[in-house]
Amino acid sequence: MQGFITFALIFCFILPCLSTRSNVGTKNAIYNVMKYGARGDGKIDDSLAFVRAWNSACKAAEMSTLVIPVGKTFMVSKLSFNGPCTNKHILIQLEGKIVAPSKVHWKAQSYWITVQSVEGLTINGHGRGVLDGDGSTWWQCKSCDRPGVFLFHSCKGLNVSNLSITNSPRSHVAVNMCNGATFSNISINSPGTSPNTDGFDIALSTHIVIHDSNIKSGDDCIAINGGSSFVNATRITCGPGHGISVGSLGKKGSEDKVSNIHVRNCTFNETQNGARIKTIPGGLGYAKHITFEQIILVNVNNPIIIDQEYSISHKGANVSVSSVKFQGFTGTSASGLAIQLNCSSSGCYDILLEQNNIVSAQPGKKASSFCTNAHGTARNTVPNVPCLLK
Ligand SMILES: *[C@@H]1O[C@H](CO)[C@@H](O)[C@H](O)[C@H]1NC(C)=O
Ligand SMILES: *[C@@H]1O[C@H](CO)[C@@H](O)[C@H](O)[C@H]1NC(C)=O
Ligand SMILES: *[C@@H]1O[C@H](CO)[C@@H](O)[C@H](O)[C@H]1NC(C)=O
Ligand SMILES: *[C@@H]1O[C@H](CO)[C@@H](O)[C@H](O)[C@H]1NC(C)=O
Ligand SMILES: *[C@@H]1O[C@H](CO)[C@@H](O)[C@H](O)[C@H]1NC(C)=O
Ligand SMILES: *[C@@H]1O[C@H](CO)[C@@H](O)[C@H](O)[C@H]1NC(C)=O
Ligand SMILES: *[C@@H]1O[C@H](CO)[C@@H](O)[C@H](O)[C@H]1NC(C)=O
Ligand SMILES: *[C@@H]1O[C@H](CO)[C@@H](O)[C@H](O)[C@H]1NC(C)=O
Repeated sequence: MQGFITFALIFCFILPCLSTRSNVGTKNAIYNVMKYGARGDGKIDDSLAFVRAWNSACKAAEMSTLVIPVGKTFMVSKLSFNGPCTNKHILIQLEGKIVAPSKVHWKAQSYWITVQSVEGLTINGHGRGVLDGDGSTWWQCKSCDRPGVFLFHSCKGLNVSNLSITNSPRSHVAVNMCNGATFSNISINSPGTSPNTDGFDIALSTHIVIHDSNIKSGDDCIAINGGSSFVNATRITCGPGHGISVGSLGKKGSEDKVSNIHVRNCTFNETQNGARIKTIPGGLGYAKHITFEQIILVNVNNPIIIDQEYSISHKGANVSVSSVKFQGFTGTSASGLAIQLNCSSSGCYDILLEQNNIVSAQPGKKASSFCTNAHGTARNTVPNVPCLLK
């Protein structure tokens, strides 16, 4: 008798699992966070339901879809979507709104939402999905260890699109140690006064594409850091913010290498910088094969800038800067100092400026250029750049 009860109990526990598991092996199993106990009332912490749904989607043998449904607001304190997963075709249909707790209730460490070691993930917001980091509860505390919204770590074959990410306490999207990631139609929106709210922070990654996106923030629109190569940014509108920046490279103790960067058809609207390369004196590594082309400038403080004196120097060599092209810049410079190529005494080499027309935003004032230790060529460029060395 006792044996039978035990059997019956075990059976009853297993049965629901069996019915859930019946999804496994079908062509596209759906895992809706509501079925895993999410409330979607914007108040109760739904983190556990999300992670349970994710774990099921991740374990599915074939293609699986995690659904975060439209019309609901989910408060989550911390999300970790960890791999490796069984299948390499996971879709997150992110059509609802996900909101972070305010600062006093925050639980996550350095990032609110972490996706780690997942291959072949697509996240599609269908133009409705929103992630809101509730950054306004953090921004006044500049010295706080403020978290970022989204970290993609060790990803491969990632596609994220049609999504809005707002009000991050710190950077919005960090891409770290990824190989192959495309971000498209992403709208990032934080006030120009919010501190350190980079749009994208890319490091130690290769084959990364960001296109057709709009980034408003209080810091870099896109920062391309050490260990990154083959990064394309196309049809991005930045502003407010600090522009698209390679670096800063050469922070103490690190060797930073960046190469094959293409920034095309971007607009900088009232940003502090446009195209920038910044390195710290005494650092190791290089920045090379970097192209910025077809750039529209609206009242930008520093449209074109290489700055090798960025931050406090330490002893040693310098990050080398070479094969950099600035082509097809048109529009206005707020300061009038349109082109600044401030290279270290080690020099920057093979700098090409071509077909640029940058004028001062101040009526009657002429735009100007400045360089030190910059070697290269300028053709059909206004303002002219007589300071370039052979
Ligand atoms: C991501 O998008 C790229 C380009 O659109 C495509 O080639 C790739 O197959 C997509 N990856 C996934 C996992 O859907
Ligand atoms: C891009 O995203 C916005 C809002 O995030 C949305 O309104 C628009 O429909 C999306 N575009 C496409 C092509 O899906
Ligand atoms: C973004 O939305 C558009 C239009 O709704 C769609 O064509 C596109 O495939 C979506 N992007 C991805 C990667 O799913
Ligand atoms: C990045 O841009 C370069 C230069 O235009 C191009 O050759 C390359 O195919 C692009 N890469 C991707 C993945 O779009
Ligand atoms: C960039 O803009 C130019 C001019 O509008 C257009 O001809 C070209 O196709 C665009 N290229 C990309 C990659 O968006
Ligand atoms: C710059 O931004 C302003 C509003 O902030 C907008 O009216 C204007 O159209 C934008 N210009 C460009 C070229 O995108
Ligand atoms: C570049 O050097 C010039 C001359 O010393 C200076 O006016 C300018 O502020 C420097 N730019 C930066 C970003 O340090
Ligand atoms: C590195 O750059 C700094 C600043 O221009 C310069 O003082 C220093 O001599 C350079 N180091 C070398 C090894 O060239």
